Amino acid sequence: MSLKNDIYTYLKQNAGKYVSGQELAGRFAKSRAAVWKAVKALQADGCVIDAVNNRGYKLVQESGKISAEHVKSLLKYSADVIYYESIDSTNSQAKRLIAQPGGENLLIIANRQTDGRGRGNKSFYSPADSGIYMSLVLHPNSSLQRAVTATTAAAVAVCRAIEHFCDFKLQIKWVNDIYLNGGKVAGILTEAITDFESMCVSSIIIGIGVNINTESFPAGAPEAASLGADINRNELIAEIVNQIFEIADGGREYIEYYKSHSMVIGKDIIIYENSAETPARAIAVEDSGALRVRLAGGEIKTLTSGTIRLKQQ
Ligand code: BTN
Repeated sequence: MSLKNDIYTYLKQNAGKYVSGQELAGRFAKSRAAVWKAVKALQADGCVIDAVNNRGYKLVQESGKISAEHVKSLLKYSADVIYYESIDSTNSQAKRLIAQPGGENLLIIANRQTDGRGRGNKSFYSPADSGIYMSLVLHPNSSLQRAVTATTAAAVAVCRAIEHFCDFKLQIKWVNDIYLNGGKVAGILTEAITDFESMCVSSIIIGIGVNINTESFPAGAPEAASLGADINRNELIAEIVNQIFEIADGGREYIEYYKSHSMVIGKDIIIYENSAETPARAIAVEDSGALRVRLAGGEIKTLTSGTIRLKQQ
């Protein structure tokens, strides 16, 4: 960790108290001048830090800005982290950056996307400073190699991460939309990169967008909503990534969580497939993440991908 992050973390742990420059210098084995420089850098990042002669430094308000360094310092697993103030789409950028397969896990984050993409060629509204837009690139041998598994795992990871910070009752609309009180607050776009020689999936890109404090949405996104919560974006991003890796490690059972948070089981739905709309009843989410449905004629079908919507009651 850098001195800047060390000081940030320590001031946060000592919230409400002044910590002297001498104590910080001694604790991190640096000069007081280096401590002062790091505090200036934190202030430039948007942290409000009170600096008082003979008392020291007190963190008054955390920075609302995203910092790759800060996110990396909170990750429990190894990944390269790249941050853009503005980019067309973090998923598109991920594709450009992983032209060469292999290497480290990669996390791409943006403060704003000018061409954020959703499933089914929809756009994902991604204004600055109000949400998180991130793509996690996982390489072969990840247990999340199958797209449907990665998507369901990511949906669980996002819910668990949000619940880590807020007391919300989230719901998952198969396969990857996260809802709060009937509004869509997060979406996931999983894309697989195939190696043409072996015809195997060489990387998987899990793109996640969470609306934290976006105030209004374009007309094309009638269900979109925000969490409306005071969450530090660096911490939420890192928590999501940690949760994904924890699931990939097989550390925590996630499919039961997915099933128990499903908002479609037992409901009438419309399936969108090859520009046809088919009414059905959602019966169950299978352990693979696939959705079992009963069609109007009684036929049972298992969906492994596609788009559904809840039928208006
Ligand atoms: C959906 O709602 O259908 C999925 C939305 C996925 C949005 C995220 S934001 C980060 C990443 N980059 C993109 O262009 N899309 C995903």
